[in-house]
Amino acid sequence: MLCPWRTADLGLLLILTIFSVAASNSSYMDGKRMTQISSTPVSEVYTSLSVVIDTNTVLHCPRTLTRALLTTWEVILRDKPSCKKAYRSDTNEMKETNCTDDRITWASRPSQNPDLQIAPVAIAHDGYYRCVMATPDGNLNHEYHLQVLVPPEATLFLSRNRTAVCKAVAGKPAAQISWSPEGDDCVTEQEHWGNDTLTVQSTCSWEVPDVTNVTCSVSHLTGNRSLFIELLPGAKHSEKSYILYIILPILILIIVGSIWFLKFSACRKCKLNKTEATPVAEEDEMQPYASYTEKNNPLYDTTNKVKTSQELQNEVDCTGLHTL
Ligand SMILES: *[C@@H]1O[C@H](CO)[C@@H](O)[C@H](O)[C@H]1NC(C)=O
Ligand SMILES: *[C@@H]1O[C@H](CO)[C@@H](O)[C@H](O)[C@H]1NC(C)=O
Ligand SMILES: *[C@@H]1O[C@H](CO)[C@@H](O)[C@H](O)[C@H]1NC(C)=O
Ligand SMILES: *[C@@H]1O[C@H](CO)[C@@H](O)[C@H](O)[C@H]1NC(C)=O
Ligand SMILES: *[C@@H]1O[C@H](CO)[C@@H](O)[C@H](O)[C@H]1NC(C)=O
Ligand SMILES: *[C@@H]1O[C@H](CO)[C@@H](O)[C@H](O)[C@H]1NC(C)=O
Repeated sequence: MLCPWRTADLGLLLILTIFSVAASNSSYMDGKRMTQISSTPVSEVYTSLSVVIDTNTVLHCPRTLTRALLTTWEVILRDKPSCKKAYRSDTNEMKETNCTDDRITWASRPSQNPDLQIAPVAIAHDGYYRCVMATPDGNLNHEYHLQVLVPPEATLFLSRNRTAVCKAVAGKPAAQISWSPEGDDCVTEQEHWGNDTLTVQSTCSWEVPDVTNVTCSVSHLTGNRSLFIELLPGAKHSEKSYILYIILPILILIIVGSIWFLKFSACRKCKLNKTEATPVAEEDEMQPYASYTEKNNPLYDTTNKVKTSQELQNEVDCTGLHTL
């Protein structure tokens, strides 16, 4: 069931809404008019700008429909008094205060273009730049924070067989260095130069012998670079293999050898005990020595035999004992 009272209420609400929006717009207009009197900016734009060193750059003033009465550039650089460049359109006058850097100029004739030009950009140009345009509607501001970038020089070399050094020399701001594959042991150092640039150095070593080629990536706002180098077979690795392939086998050989020797001499003794009981084996045992003595001494007799046996005794315990 439609209620006329309700519809009227809705209509009123709608009118109120339109009115309040209009009111808010008009109050904004009032604010604009008021700022004109108090000269606080009606429009304030802030831009953070990064510019590569040795290039030319142009900073813009706000675009206006009405003609600016006065255009002022304020340049605030570190360690320098702030410089002001002003242009007054009604008298076509230009004025400068404390501006010493002739690389900072009007982009063209300020009557045509109020922009500021920096050519070429240097590290010293890091700082704040503000264009203030005084118009009949109020002041329009555009502020820039200018950051000058210096591309680092990237180098990669081996300091040791399995240790590589990647350097990003004299960059601004500091570069980021990453490795592929990641190193087992990495140290990153930074070195500050007096001129605001930094050198970043990353030293990494790879213990795993499978890693033969490594890539160093230098990331910087001015662009990224990748360098690659081939590692050499390392000292650490060869030390390990030296232990593994030379010392270890020798140790094993010595151990096995002594075990075998102990076992052998024990066996000899046990055989000796056995042979005393069984003289048949004795004959076989004696044969080589007996024949040796016989061959070398044609006048083979028992005394000689005993003597020889005694000599042998010193060398081979079992045999000597046996002969006696
Ligand atoms: C209020 O102002 C804004 C911009 O300032 C405009 O887009 C909008 O249409 C205005 N509204 C009214 C109701 O005037
Ligand atoms: C110009 O620089 C001097 C110091 O070098 C300073 O005292 C003065 O206030 C500066 N003028 C302006 C307008 O910034
Ligand atoms: C900064 O200083 C370093 C070391 O003196 C130099 O190698 C580099 O070229 C300088 N950079 C600039 C942009 O002046
Ligand atoms: C390493 O680099 C060398 C030389 O460029 C190349 O011949 C070799 O194939 C590379 N090895 C691997 C594992 O990528
Ligand atoms: C450079 O590398 C970084 C990360 O290492 C990446 O975020 C960035 O997008 C790269 N820039 C360019 C221009 O390739
Ligand atoms: C480094 O590599 C070279 C070439 O492979 C090798 O002759 C040398 O012994 C290695 N040096 C060390 C300390 O491992």
